[in-house]
Amino acid sequence: MAEVKFYGSEQSLPLEMHKVRIIQKLNLLPIDERVESITDAGNNTFLLKNRNVFLDMLTDSGTNAMSDRQLAAMMTADDSYAGSETFYRLEAQIRDIFGMKHFLPAHQGRACENLITQVLITKPDQVVPMNYHFTTAKAHISRFGAKIEEIIIDEGLKAKSDRPFKGDINTDKLRDMIKTGKDKIAFVRIEAGTNLIGGQPVSMNNFKEVSGICRENGIVLVVDASLLADNLYFIKTRDADYKDVPIIEIMREIGKLADIIYFSARKLGCARGGGICLNSDNLADKLRELVPLFEGFLTYGGMSVREMEALTVGLGETLDMDMISQAPQFIGHMVDELSALNIPVVTPAGGLGCHLNAKEILPHVPQSEYPAGALASALYIISGIRGMERGTMSEQRNPDGSEPLANMELVRLALPRRVFTLSQIKYTIDRVNWLYQNRDIVGGIKFTEEPRILRFFFGRLAPVSDWQEKLVKKFKEDFGDSL
Ligand code: F0G
Repeated sequence: MAEVKFYGSEQSLPLEMHKVRIIQKLNLLPIDERVESITDAGNNTFLLKNRNVFLDMLTDSGTNAMSDRQLAAMMTADDSYAGSETFYRLEAQIRDIFGMKHFLPAHQGRACENLITQVLITKPDQVVPMNYHFTTAKAHISRFGAKIEEIIIDEGLKAKSDRPFKGDINTDKLRDMIKTGKDKIAFVRIEAGTNLIGGQPVSMNNFKEVSGICRENGIVLVVDASLLADNLYFIKTRDADYKDVPIIEIMREIGKLADIIYFSARKLGCARGGGICLNSDNLADKLRELVPLFEGFLTYGGMSVREMEALTVGLGETLDMDMISQAPQFIGHMVDELSALNIPVVTPAGGLGCHLNAKEILPHVPQSEYPAGALASALYIISGIRGMERGTMSEQRNPDGSEPLANMELVRLALPRRVFTLSQIKYTIDRVNWLYQNRDIVGGIKFTEEPRILRFFFGRLAPVSDWQEKLVKKFKEDFGDSL
């Protein structure tokens, strides 16, 4: 990636290395209609209708912009239930970039988690050490009776930091766990780009060290590569040893260090689907039995052939630094601008999105009233921007019904790759700033309907007071007729 210098004052503006050739019209509703929409959605941004959303920063999952080459490839798909050429093209691409022997397709990332946990959790009371959990990974691990144990480095849980790789595993803790209870460890999981704590990357040194420890002790190392594209960008830009190493070499190195790599292709490869890569014939045999049961035949695994073609090309494009730089650079810009305004955000900038630190923005809202959920609801009301709560609401109640308070209360403003323009990012910064200046108005929310599993997806909530009316009044005072 060649650096493009600017002549004028904008020294560090991220420059898009692509142009937009297909567009989708957006809709920005007036604020009174936005209040109606979020009320209808039970103050849960997952339940908003997209037609009522201006900038959809809920997630990058399945919402990344595809390239012309991906769309063209979709037209060449070989539509066959079994033995499709499309599958063999995908399999060859995956073998090439990860250097692993087996590839098993699945319909998305959580489907891979379902299969892997079924095979690797074999006894009661097992434990899965990991840098940090992702909601669906944790749900599957607990479904099969095991427990997760988060052993991320301390710095990983500090919202503000200058440590470049906050997603690293604390290897002393891993060694201790092995010393005291090796037999209980079902597998070790590294999430490359820790989703719930701000998309923070894992360093190559940590990949190597954890892999070494696992190999010494005969423990299976599973890498969740859903957010690997961002992690690769950070390895290239934050680790001097890898500055000149081609991306494919880094991917192959990770392939050598892991026993199993799985991914959501809704993120990695800018398509929709997923898959599991591994070398072990024995584990591959066990997993292979489950694919037709839960996913589909071995040459599609629940994916459409068109998506598989798009994925093959998308994975190839992930090797291009121009491609994988765009989202982290936009996120970096947003984080820098918001930090300059003294607005608490997770630093250093990670992948996936810009993360607002709701715990610090709304210190007057107790965690039991979901400050991140309240902030996401408030942001939608004042801007039409849809973010995602990543805090206590995204946690699952303990078996005894008590509520675990999340380590962090974040509102994630995800930047799907190549989707938003810089002026849309500027609008977002402007509205977040206004909300921050008026943060005292924002109050908490409480569940009115609370599902037992993954409650953040469907749960409905209501404000604990009339703070939303007050927020609207202030918005109208400051913005008049503006949307
Ligand atoms: N692992 C990670 C790190 C993820 O971020 C996700 C999904 C999954 C696994 C599951 O993959 O959705 O294809 O089943 N993350 C999405 C998000 C949902 O919005 O962050 P999936």
